[in-house]
Amino acid sequence: MRSLVLLCTILVLVPVSLASKKWHFKWEVGYIYWSPDCRENIMIGINGRFPGPTIRAKAGDTIKVELKNGLPTEGVVIHWHGIRQFGTPWADGTASISQCAINPEETFIYEFKVEKPGTYFYHGHYGMQRAAGLYGSLIVDVADGQKEPFDYDGELNLLLSDWYHQNSLLINGKGQHNCSLAAHLIPGSSTCRTKRGECEPVVLRVLPNKTYRLRIASTTSLSSLNLAIGHHKMMVVEADGNYVEPFSVNDMDIYSGESYSVLITTDQVPSSNYWLSVGVRGRLPQTQPALAILNYHPNSPSKLPASKPPVAPAWNDYAHSKSFSYKILARQGTPKPPTNPVRQIALLNTQNKINGYIKWSINNISLALPPTPYLGSMRYRLRNAFDDRKPPENFAREYDIMKPPINPSAIQGSNAYKLEFNSTVDVILQNANALSGNVSDIHPWHLHAHDFWVLGYGDGRFSKKDVTKFNLKNPPLRNTVVLFPYGWTAIRFVADNPGVWAFHCHIEPHLHMGMGVIFAEGVELVKKIPKEALACGMTGKMLMNNHLP
Ligand code: C2O
Ligand code: CU
Repeated sequence: MRSLVLLCTILVLVPVSLASKKWHFKWEVGYIYWSPDCRENIMIGINGRFPGPTIRAKAGDTIKVELKNGLPTEGVVIHWHGIRQFGTPWADGTASISQCAINPEETFIYEFKVEKPGTYFYHGHYGMQRAAGLYGSLIVDVADGQKEPFDYDGELNLLLSDWYHQNSLLINGKGQHNCSLAAHLIPGSSTCRTKRGECEPVVLRVLPNKTYRLRIASTTSLSSLNLAIGHHKMMVVEADGNYVEPFSVNDMDIYSGESYSVLITTDQVPSSNYWLSVGVRGRLPQTQPALAILNYHPNSPSKLPASKPPVAPAWNDYAHSKSFSYKILARQGTPKPPTNPVRQIALLNTQNKINGYIKWSINNISLALPPTPYLGSMRYRLRNAFDDRKPPENFAREYDIMKPPINPSAIQGSNAYKLEFNSTVDVILQNANALSGNVSDIHPWHLHAHDFWVLGYGDGRFSKKDVTKFNLKNPPLRNTVVLFPYGWTAIRFVADNPGVWAFHCHIEPHLHMGMGVIFAEGVELVKKIPKEALACGMTGKMLMNNHLP
């Protein structure tokens, strides 16, 4: 299944051998019966398992995944979330954007470099396949000879998710829906047990008086999360593959698309175990929190913790969430943003109705992806492959973000923002009231292929003078940022990565309902796109007739 091809590239100019490896995986995506929350259901797995295999590599390595689509009736793609894909924009794994969905029985080869150490993950990026379980972890260690700017004795990895059965929360693919966790831990009890241990609680084995790095990533389809460990403080040190100025918290919020590393010290009473608990933010919880056990050696993992699991803050305590987000600042030494953006794009997030269906729109356009992937149609300058009118840079001054839309209709469109190559762009995300009164949702926005600086957040409507409050001193670099209810979030990035990239809300149904935009930059610099990425829509026809170079 997993063969490692060692291709050592010794750079002649560097005295110490900087060996980079090439990792080669063969995966097949398929339907499986699985019981992630102790209730069996159909899911999408990789090589017959859920979640997908963890990829672990070092900065500078190359990952090659031969992905076969074993789903008989639907296409598939996999996106490598947080990986820049510099020079390989066709490997970004976004259906209709970077490539054609892989047809049943066909294989597509993803090959790309992992440049930056950090905590990442991968997931399906076609329809709602993430909600069905198509995801896994991708962890990049520092290159040989390099060091992380903090020390730890051991490492634990937590991939958080939810899935469509009752929105159950899962930790490393395991959760318990309406079963007592105790039942799993106490031998002889049979409530909610599965034969194959698919929903057994996650046990995190630790030694007393050590420091552990917990890698935490969220690939939830719907839920915003809060995580806490009984009696243990967490020191946040990494966010989305970027180091942050360390700060200590009792609990932390994690939005879909985000990843963190936190350090914990196992300095509590060693004769006890402790609960790690994951609850829901921003939406009335439908399920119990997901639990894992921090198991101090040599206690038995089935020894129930002496104290109750930590309780998440009230789901609508946004002040609590904001205070966490505001604490995230770049670690010293992080590159600073350029000071002069050439363009500012303001994106109003609204909920709308189109032909009776609820949609999400950005500046009144609900993203509808075209049949021909943008990367190919733009690279080969095809006409009529998508709506090539300029999408709006702004929204109406009189729009009242505090009220439901007066006219809830919007249009569907496939327009793309063309960014001047290497230019600095600011984006202001503006939240608003949804269709019903007094409702404004959390939207975690994710940008493909770039890190951006988070310049600031604010409540209410963004105004010109808010620019003066931007943090240009130590804004954190990230690939995902939260947009709070009725608020705004400002980011800045440099359009330096030739390709066509999605920028969208990471809540899967929201993207599916149109909540995203397309950025294109330097597409004329893109080298030869593999044919397999073009074999659909207009580029597919042209390939058949030998009309593509
Ligand atoms: Cu992890 Cu376009 O998403
Ligand atoms: Cu959203």
